[in-house]
Amino acid sequence: MFGRGSFDQLDEILEPHRKAGAPMIFLVDHFFENKALVNRLPVRGKDKIVFADVTYEPKTSYVDKLANQLKDEFGTVSGIVGIGGGSAMDLAKAVSLMMNNPGSSADYQGWDLVKNPGVYKAGIPTLSGTGAEVSRTTVLTGPTKKLGMNSDFTPFDQIVLDPVLTQNAPVNQRFYTGMDCYIHCIESLQGTYLNEFSKSYGEKALQLCQQVFVHKKNWDDESDDQLMMASYAGGMSIAYSQVGIAHAVSYGLSYLLGTKHGIGNCIVFDKLEDYYPAGVVEFKKMVEKNKIEIPQHITKGLTDEQFDTMINVSMGMKPLWENALGKDWEKKMTREKLRGLYEKL
Ligand SMILES: NC(=O)c1ccc[n+]([C@@H]2O[C@H](COP(=O)([O-])OP(=O)(O)OC[C@H]3O[C@@H](n4cnc5c(N)ncnc54)[C@H](O)[C@@H]3O)[C@@H](O)[C@H]2O)c1
Ligand SMILES: [Fe+2]
Repeated sequence: MFGRGSFDQLDEILEPHRKAGAPMIFLVDHFFENKALVNRLPVRGKDKIVFADVTYEPKTSYVDKLANQLKDEFGTVSGIVGIGGGSAMDLAKAVSLMMNNPGSSADYQGWDLVKNPGVYKAGIPTLSGTGAEVSRTTVLTGPTKKLGMNSDFTPFDQIVLDPVLTQNAPVNQRFYTGMDCYIHCIESLQGTYLNEFSKSYGEKALQLCQQVFVHKKNWDDESDDQLMMASYAGGMSIAYSQVGIAHAVSYGLSYLLGTKHGIGNCIVFDKLEDYYPAGVVEFKKMVEKNKIEIPQHITKGLTDEQFDTMINVSMGMKPLWENALGKDWEKKMTREKLRGLYEKL
């Protein structure tokens, strides 16, 4: 569902999915605690609002904790409604799955390991760019790896795209998350996995990103609408292809240093002119035009062991490297070369 103000239809959207005695759980980004949005939630009966702490990007331990609390309190629930940025939406997807799958969410980090469908889940983005509203993954940091629960059961049953919810996002955050979408497009369109499905969505998303970040003079309602659709189309594009080098490298930063996804991708993409020359030139233009600062020298002073940790995490993202560099990627991206790249960041 798309439209300015569509959030107010949430009650009727949820109605057919309510099961007797089982509440709807609204998992809301903690940014909205004490904000007016909370008073607009269609809370009925035993429904519960849970504020998601997204200070850190989602961890398997946090997903397990949220799911276990809900199981202890209610047995089962009618559904989970995730409202917020990519982190809150990913948490909602993961908690929904863990309501119906045994063990820990860490057991399902990988591809097609999830056995049972989760409970009904709806996603409502309040930041545009990650594509988490449409993707078949939920990115989690676990005890040994940072990897998503990629499965056919992971996508939301329903999404509500209301651009009004994004309109007061801080300029920096909006840019970093928006660039996640821009980078998805470049990595998908220049990847070896490209096909007509991914290309059609990727080109459209790229055009919308350029519209809001390069061509437009001022940010307005139309910009929010366009970036929200860019995020959707960008997510669709990578659903049938893959991301690439910026993502593979930024996963290492995130694992070791806790660098957040949007800003981490920007820090890496800024130095990828050898791999995505035209994209990086345009990226630098957007950074300048939108008066954003990209942090520099964040890996200065790290030990050999720490560099190795990042390299291991990054090299583990095989499909991303293969998409970016082809089947013989291991010959093109050696550990030494990757170390050199990390040292530049
Ligand atoms: N599942 C996927 O396909 C996928 C793809 C890309 C990224 N991700 C994940 O998405 C996360 C990054 O998401 P993100 O960039 O949207 O940021 P985020 O969800 O981590 O949120 C960033 C900050 O913005 C705040 N925020 C959210 N909405 C706001 C609003 N309207 N106004 C003001 N502040 C607001 C949050 O409270 C938080 O402090 C990462 O965890 C990443 O792994 C998932
Ligand atoms: Fe991303």
